[in-house]
Amino acid sequence: PTPSWAIEADVVVVGSGVAGLTAALRCAATGLTTVIVTKADLDDGSTRWAQGGIAAALGEGDTPAQHLADTLTAGAGLCDEDAVRTLVTEGPDAVRRLIATGAVFDTSTATGEIELTREGGHHRRRIAHAGGDATGAEISRALVEAVQSAGIRTIEHALVLDLLRDAGGRTAGVSLHVMGEGQHDGVGAVHAPAVVLATGGMGQVFSATTNPAVSTGDGVALALRAGAEVSDLEFVQFHPTVLYLGSGAEGQQPLISEAVRGEGAHLVDADGVRFMTGLHELGELAPRDIVAKGIMRRCQEQGTDHMYLDARHFGARMWAERFPTILAACRGHGLDPVREPIPVAPAAHYASGGVRTDLRGRTTVPGLYACGEAACTGVHGANRLASNSLLEGLVFAERIAADIRARAGDRGGDGAAPARPAPAAPPALPLLPAEARGEVQRIMTAGAGVLRSAASLAGAAAALAALRSGPGRDGKPAEPATESWEVTNLHLVASVLVAAAARRAETRGCHWREDHPDRDDARWARHLVVTLGAPTP
Ligand code: SIN
Repeated sequence: PTPSWAIEADVVVVGSGVAGLTAALRCAATGLTTVIVTKADLDDGSTRWAQGGIAAALGEGDTPAQHLADTLTAGAGLCDEDAVRTLVTEGPDAVRRLIATGAVFDTSTATGEIELTREGGHHRRRIAHAGGDATGAEISRALVEAVQSAGIRTIEHALVLDLLRDAGGRTAGVSLHVMGEGQHDGVGAVHAPAVVLATGGMGQVFSATTNPAVSTGDGVALALRAGAEVSDLEFVQFHPTVLYLGSGAEGQQPLISEAVRGEGAHLVDADGVRFMTGLHELGELAPRDIVAKGIMRRCQEQGTDHMYLDARHFGARMWAERFPTILAACRGHGLDPVREPIPVAPAAHYASGGVRTDLRGRTTVPGLYACGEAACTGVHGANRLASNSLLEGLVFAERIAADIRARAGDRGGDGAAPARPAPAAPPALPLLPAEARGEVQRIMTAGAGVLRSAASLAGAAAALAALRSGPGRDGKPAEPATESWEVTNLHLVASVLVAAAARRAETRGCHWREDHPDRDDARWARHLVVTLGAPTP
């Protein structure tokens, strides 16, 4: 579709979680004309749902080096050590700047210091939290308020469609589809020489996920269509402890934060037996992939599809004070964790891969940046360490803002948007109908979920291909609408994910192949980097 209106800026930030809002704030603070485009309301992304917290070496005796070691171990041999070092060394100050921006973290009444908890894979208490278990909501509140008081222009309810290029092939902005009443309805554009993709994850490719409905991989799909490199999509992290609401549960599921285990909850099987203690030196606090696998194995042994998290010993007061969000979610589903173990099962949680970037957040397309869950900076490797994601969003958003400012300076920019020729309209794309969303999710859950094999992945690939060209669909693209764009994006990222998962014939981190149960460093201590149209290497 050809944009029918356009606004001019120095930077357009797509997405409004911790990464997008931080990038926008830091860009605007240097005088760059900044526009935020977001698909729903400003606070509707995944950040607001984050519970456990944000990891940083803030505690006495803790060091970035220890945080680095835990991150590398969780990443199962595929982290980029320079990226991790950047994350952990710049992390503590980035958290302090977040506090200066207005986020209020829980502090100890005795010392006034930030209270720190533990989560899987961390050998120390290193996770700062807010509102007990509502860390993301507090970060989102603070950043939204800061963006509003800085007067940064925002376009809400706007789905980004494609990257625009100028005559020289350089990034020139994005086209977008705006829903609802208002000045900017329909297909329009923000023209800008720098585009930051901070669109979050793609959990909605699976039937059950902790991600909100808006997590449809839009930024990764846009980047693929723009020819950018995407990496590590096979590494989907399944959170081990998601409230089990029955085998047919669909859509966003309530998370039971790892911090509940960090404070001493036990994972028990159908007979009440703790099963993680013999499996890993950290027991229930082993890295997330190991706990998810432990749960699935015990489920297979016991012929069931869920385990239990027992935290009755916390007592009513601790539950209410430390985990009010989770307590309310459980009670909302008729469960009382003060009196009974919580049924839990793994569900899709986090895309460790995404649009490949360097340490400045640059993708392989000049002028296009990626940040947060949409990006693959190299800090997560094959399995993200718990609570490193909010930190990654913060640290790399700041680096991106610095790079955009420096490049604007190189162009002789003074913050004012230079005159540019109208960018080329993006190529037309055949859209899938909205109803295909459930089909994509069922295909992915059956074929590319926690447990994968060559056969299950081949089945998923064939079913996804059939969905593109199936009966009643050929030659008849759906009408352009947010729902059809979303499912088209889901289908694209799902197809790339399945191809990468089929190619990686080993088990590593959160990629678990039943037919290749071992890690194979000789062949697979490397990344799968994909560009659209090019074969998977
Ligand atoms: C949690 O609270 O368990 C989630 C933390 C994370 O995904 O990093």
